[in-house]
Amino acid sequence: MSFKTIILAAGKGTRMKSKKAKVLHEVCGKPMVNHIIDVSKLAGSKETIVITGHMKDEVLKALDNDIKIAEQKERLGTGHAVMMCKDFINDDDKIMILCGDTPLLNEETLKNLLDYHNKNSYKATVLTCIVENSNGYGRIIRDDKNNLLKIVEQKDASMEELLVKEINSGIYIFDGLDLKIALDKIDNNNAQGEYYLTDTLELIKNDGKSVGAFSGALIEEIMGVNSKLDLSKANEIMRRKINENHMLEGVIIVDTTSTYIDLDVKIGMDTIIEPNVILKGNTVIGDDCIIGANSKIIDSRISDDVKIENSTVLESNIDSNTTVGPYAYIRPNCNIGKNVKIGDFVEVKNSNIDDNTKASHLTYIGDANLGKGINLGCGVVFVNYDGKNKFRTTVEDNSFIGCNTNLIAPVKVEENSYIAAGSTITDDVPKNNLAIARARQVNKDNWKKN
Ligand code: UD1
Ligand code: CA
Repeated sequence: MSFKTIILAAGKGTRMKSKKAKVLHEVCGKPMVNHIIDVSKLAGSKETIVITGHMKDEVLKALDNDIKIAEQKERLGTGHAVMMCKDFINDDDKIMILCGDTPLLNEETLKNLLDYHNKNSYKATVLTCIVENSNGYGRIIRDDKNNLLKIVEQKDASMEELLVKEINSGIYIFDGLDLKIALDKIDNNNAQGEYYLTDTLELIKNDGKSVGAFSGALIEEIMGVNSKLDLSKANEIMRRKINENHMLEGVIIVDTTSTYIDLDVKIGMDTIIEPNVILKGNTVIGDDCIIGANSKIIDSRISDDVKIENSTVLESNIDSNTTVGPYAYIRPNCNIGKNVKIGDFVEVKNSNIDDNTKASHLTYIGDANLGKGINLGCGVVFVNYDGKNKFRTTVEDNSFIGCNTNLIAPVKVEENSYIAAGSTITDDVPKNNLAIARARQVNKDNWKKN
């Protein structure tokens, strides 16, 4: 026996009006289909099968290797889609069926659904929800003892059935054998000419087995994302939850309405997040940091007591007590040490900067290794590119690079060296040297004649 999940994700998602597969649209930094996979695993599912069809190859790329794939070449309905994974279904499996476009689904709800299914020894259980406006959904039809009779699609429903406020979430648990037997029996004699998965419950019941309807879902969590408008609503709901969780864990968020934090971001205690901050990907931020207004940090590790002001940090590591910005741009693959100062209008790319080094203003550091305790004056440029190739520059500990210096890579400045302001350095500088590389000043007497 195994608890497995089948995720329906073959549909076209026409209303999304997108060149991208619907289930690949992101909610708080993660494609919808990955949200569903993650929540199914949290609920205890041991194996995931995703049914792909429309834009199959793109969807495949977003999935981890442990995910099994079934293909539905023609979209003939939800029942037909599940038929495509019959080979994955063993008789004694518990099969959970989810849709790829309900990213807000809660693990607790799925656990409760499975409990309800198991406790009552049902062969099939549908998750339902009571709503004010049931328009568009399949209706749950119960008998006078409140037992599930069947699910009727809106287009097939009678006037009386249309009034029912209990709807099908599209989420189910089945016993493997009963699901397979019922799938063999469904037909497409209905208003849409589709093979409805919903018909399997009635078929199982007619076989003398018991089926259930568990009204344990909130409409918010089963809401399908069908359009860009739905997508923005789903993002808003999840974003609010993420921010609330961080605040409950000790993070100070100054303005939750303008703070955008992806699901997997981690933030330490007493860190302050000022307004208009975007934290994306696998970013980890330590304790007691200040992430200043208008900062954007993607896939980066920030240690404790770091202050980032109005700056962008991409795929980089920043160690403790360092300050960045305002208006700094840390591009991918930088390792910045402790107690470093990256000041205003400083760009750093693919570089290592060791502890206590300072680049206070208007500097470009590209493809460089900087040691400890270095001071870079205003306007230093690491000239790393000759139009064809990139080269690296090394500056060793305790050097002083004067203002407006060009360091033409590849070049090395050894420890304790000084470079005079305005120099263009093309040759290595030995340790303890002063390098001056600029034309001497000439004053022309009486240059201006009256
Ligand atoms: C379905 C249910 C309905 C329920 C609703 C909940 C059926 C017949 N109806 O209706 O009772 O209230 O979901 O949202 O099941 N898909 C495929 N292949 C197909 C058809 C659909 O993979 O051939 C996928 C879609 O990509 C989507 C999911 O199945 O992820 C649901 O399909 P959709 O057409 O949205 O179902 P509804 O008509 O909304
Ligand atoms: Ca449909």
